[in-house]
Amino acid sequence: MFISFEGIEGSGKSSLIKNLKNYYKNHALDVFFTKEPGGTELGEKIREILLDPTSEIDPSSELFLLMADRIHHVKNKINPNLNENKIVFCDRYIDSTIAYQGGGRDLDDKDIEGMIKMLKLPIPDLTILLDVPVEMGLMRAKERSELDRFEKEDIDFHKKIRQSYLNLQKKYPDRIIIFNASMNENDVFEEVLNYIKSKIDDRD
Ligand code: TYD
Repeated sequence: MFISFEGIEGSGKSSLIKNLKNYYKNHALDVFFTKEPGGTELGEKIREILLDPTSEIDPSSELFLLMADRIHHVKNKINPNLNENKIVFCDRYIDSTIAYQGGGRDLDDKDIEGMIKMLKLPIPDLTILLDVPVEMGLMRAKERSELDRFEKEDIDFHKKIRQSYLNLQKKYPDRIIIFNASMNENDVFEEVLNYIKSKIDDRD
């Protein structure tokens, strides 16, 4: 089973995943946690380039760097773990590309969806979308640490990304489940965990 996690900057994705990791550490289920970009050694190098605020990268190069990270990651981590019947939790995946490079950078969504199809990338069984107002997310991101190349973009960039995520959810309502992430960290965790557990139970 393949589960991805999505949301704008400061949506609380990192805290949620930290809580899930903690929860599943003490359970018998065979789970594998990973992330994009940067789920492999090669990916870590690509991630560094992408997040460095001094990198000058045009939108298409950015797209292909992310896709290079993804192809390598799918081949070396995601597919092998799925083939072993593990539950794979991935922090960001294909919907990030449609939201950030399609919505945020104005590349054509259809081209990106075409690439995903052409590369035969596995589609998640479930995508958890954490939704918060952009102003709240950016405030949280600023409080947390120094801003990276994406976080430094203006508010309109982030508003386009949120809108793109909401459009994706409308397009794929069975796969993408939206959660109100304005609530406190623990309430979001409880809600998402219960949802994931019910999905895992359905599978068994
Ligand atoms: P993330 O690890 O979520 O950053 P943080 O740990 O600071 O929350 O993601 C790194 C950045 O990469 C994030 O700003 C979104 C961006 N990104 C894209 O633009 N497109 C993509 O396809 C992916 C996977 C990430």
